[in-house]
Amino acid sequence: MKFLRLLPFVVALPLAAQQRVALTPPMGWNSWNHFAGRVTDADVRAAADAIVSSGMKDAGYIYVNIDDTWEGKRDASGVLHTNEKFPDMKALGDYIHSKGLKFGIYSSPGPQTCARFEGSYQHEEQDAKTWAEWGVDYIKYDLCSYRTIMREAAAKDPANGEKIQSDLMRQAYQKISDAIRKTGRPMVLSLCQYGWDEVWTWAPALGGNLWRTTGDISDSYLSMSQIGFSQAGLSKYAGPGHWNDPDMLEVGNGRMTAEEYRTHMSLWSLLAAPLLAGNDLSKMSDETKSILLNKEAIAIDQDALGKQGDRVWAKGALEVWAKPLSNGKVAVGLFNRSLEAAPVSVRFADAGAKSSAKVRDVWAGKDLGTKQGSYTANVAPHGVVLLILE
Ligand code: GLA
Repeated sequence: MKFLRLLPFVVALPLAAQQRVALTPPMGWNSWNHFAGRVTDADVRAAADAIVSSGMKDAGYIYVNIDDTWEGKRDASGVLHTNEKFPDMKALGDYIHSKGLKFGIYSSPGPQTCARFEGSYQHEEQDAKTWAEWGVDYIKYDLCSYRTIMREAAAKDPANGEKIQSDLMRQAYQKISDAIRKTGRPMVLSLCQYGWDEVWTWAPALGGNLWRTTGDISDSYLSMSQIGFSQAGLSKYAGPGHWNDPDMLEVGNGRMTAEEYRTHMSLWSLLAAPLLAGNDLSKMSDETKSILLNKEAIAIDQDALGKQGDRVWAKGALEVWAKPLSNGKVAVGLFNRSLEAAPVSVRFADAGAKSSAKVRDVWAGKDLGTKQGSYTANVAPHGVVLLILE
C-alpha cells in the first residue's frame, strides 16, 4: 500500500499579526554603516558573538541584519543564491539563532539593489520563500532601481505621472508584504524608500513595521543632527507595531565625539526609533559600550506605551524634546545644536509633566531632586542633557 506524501501545510499570517512582530522598535545590528559592501559571513558571525559577549543581547539588541551585497545569481529555476562572501546562508542563520538572536536580510523591489546586486523584481514570492527557508526574521526592502520602473511608467503618461509612481511604489511594498506573510514565517518588514510620498501615512496598513523617513545617515554630526531634528511632527504616525525610522545608528564609528554620539542615542530614544547599531561590534571602546548600553536610554526607546517623542520648544540652536512614558513619567531631551555651551530650560507644562516633578539625569545617572515648574541645565556644544521627569 502506498502512503500519500503530505505537502507541507503553510498558513499565511494575517495582516493583523504583522503588527505584533515589532511591538517595540526593533533593536539589533546592521552591517551597512561600518562594513558596507565588504561585509562577509565571518563579520556577521563576529557581530553575533560580540552582541552576546558585550551584553548588548541582554540589553535588547536582538536582530543581526545583513544589508546589501550578500546576493549572488539566480539559477535556472529563478532561485536566488548568495555570492562567495556568504557560502551558506542557512548555516549562518542557524548560527545566529543558536545564540538566541534573530536574523535579518536585505533586498529591493527593483531588478537591482542600491549596490547593484540582484533584486527581487518579479521573484517576490520565490525570494520570500528562500528567506523563510534560511530562517530570516527581518527583511529590509530598499526601493533603489525600482525607481527606474516607476519613472518609465510615469513618462508614458506625464499628466498622471505622480499618481502612477506612487501607486507602483505602494504595490511593490504590498507585494512583498503579501509574499512574506504567505510563507507563514513572521518577519519584520522594514520599508526603505527614504520617506517619499509620506510613507508614514500608508506603510502600516500594508504591513510595514518600520519605514525610513529620510535619506541615508552618515557618521557626522551634521548628517545625524539634520536627520534627527527633522523628525519633528512625525510622532503621531508611530505606535506599537509600526515605527518611523530615521536610519541606523552611527555610534562608535569614529567621526563624532562622545558628546555627539550621546546626542544621537538620546534623540533616537526619544523618537522611539529602531536602535540598529551600525559599528564594528567586535572592536568597541568602553565609551561606545557605555552609550549603546545605557539602560535608561534604551528603556525610553522601548517604553511599552510606544509613543514617539516630539519637539516641544525651540529657540535658535536650542531644542527641547519630550516623550511620554507608560508609567506617567516623561523623558525630556535638552539639546544644544550650537558650538558654545548654553543653558537650556524645560517648562514641565510644555513637556506634559506635572508642575512638581522629580528630575533624573540619565547620562549622569543621578537623581536631582524635586523641582517646581521647570528645570535648567547647562548643555555642552552639540550635546544633550537627557532627563526623566516623574
Ligand atoms: C541604500 C539604503 C542604505 C543601504 C544601501 C545599501 O542607500 O538607504 O541604508 O541599505 O542602500 O546599498
